Amino acid sequence: MSKRVALVTGILGQDGPYLAKLLLEKGYRVYGMIRRYSNPNFSNLDYLGITHEVEYVEGDMTDEASLLNLVRVIRPTEIYNLAAQSFVGASFEQAKLTTEVNALGTLHFLNAVKYFSPTTKFYQASTSEMFGLQNKDGFQDETTPFHPRSPYGVSKVYAYWITVNFREAYGLFAVNGILFNHESPIRGLQFVTRKITDGVARIKFGLAKELRLGNLDAYRDWGFAGDYVEAMYLMLQQSQPDDYVVGTGESHNVREFVELAFKFAGIGDWKKYVVVDPQYKRPAEVPNLRAKADKARKILGWRPKVTFEEIVKMMVEADINRYQDKITTNQSSQ
Ligand code: NAP
Ligand code: GDD
Repeated sequence: MSKRVALVTGILGQDGPYLAKLLLEKGYRVYGMIRRYSNPNFSNLDYLGITHEVEYVEGDMTDEASLLNLVRVIRPTEIYNLAAQSFVGASFEQAKLTTEVNALGTLHFLNAVKYFSPTTKFYQASTSEMFGLQNKDGFQDETTPFHPRSPYGVSKVYAYWITVNFREAYGLFAVNGILFNHESPIRGLQFVTRKITDGVARIKFGLAKELRLGNLDAYRDWGFAGDYVEAMYLMLQQSQPDDYVVGTGESHNVREFVELAFKFAGIGDWKKYVVVDPQYKRPAEVPNLRAKADKARKILGWRPKVTFEEIVKMMVEADINRYQDKITTNQSSQ
């Protein structure tokens, strides 16, 4: 059997490296798409030790021809479309860019598959942000209607439906993974979990005196990115394409995350350090997210392995180690 080939977009982000590592372990040849940069940042791939095992190709979600050409030349077995303007907060200020990257970018890829490689299986990184205000008895599952609350959420609803449409209209193996929040030590620094763990590490080493946050009352279903990429892979190994909700079924608010992070860092009363700053509040908020992932459990056999407490601890320890290493390096170079 010839080697399976995966094209992963968003390879320099959080999920790309975890997914690439999983696929490499399974024997795939992995192409990672990066956009044109004079100095691309490989630090997340470095963190997982796979920078030199991925083959890099250039493409931009806003440049249709670049995506058509990649699919035409590589003709991958599977495409994992993870690239996005993924920060909800920024999407209010950069709604058009967010739409072009997340919504039209997905359409470009689906067209590429339709015209150049119709047997390629396509994974779309859909999101619990699409549910927004909606829930059923406090949960969201595959039957919950969408009510997005941000330009990011709206763009992802388009991407979700165009993926379903290409599956139904052209018979493509195209699926949506509706993933709830997932975190890790390589989460982007602007997302609240990493902002908190980086912040407590700075406070611990005397590099910061406070941590400024927005809404502490938002509830999220936080899982571990390393677990969630397994669900992505499993969705493309099924005999039939379908859409799945992926989450832990547990929900915690931002305040609880903060409390635990300060506790694991060994810093006393968190209230002395946290300042609520209106600039970090959003014009429209998603108040409660909690997954009912029974379908993924039953059909994919997927379940999360890392608990909420373990994620917070893992992230706090990783950030403390990073600052410790920097301080040690600085001291030894003096
Ligand atoms: P991330 O860390 O923000 O990574 C997104 C990647 O997309 C970045 O590497 C970025 O490249 C790339 N990108 C942005 N604009 C691009 C463009 N115009 N052309 C090509 N690449 C572009 O996101 P993540 O947390 O890994 O999430 C992966 C995907 O899952 C995203 O689609 C996100 O919306 C979705 N999702 C995430 C979560 C979550 O909790 N993490 C939950 C549900 C869904 P640069 O490095 O060059 O900036
Ligand atoms: N980023 C950030 N910064 N969020 C804050 C802050 C802050 O200082 N203070 C409070 N929050 C609240 C936000 O208002 C939100 O309710 C919650 O913390 C989580 O914010 P983020 O970590 O930015 O994530 P998100 O839930 O908006 O979006 C993430 O998860 C989605 C899946 O539900 C992103 O990864 C999206 O790309 C993903 O689709």
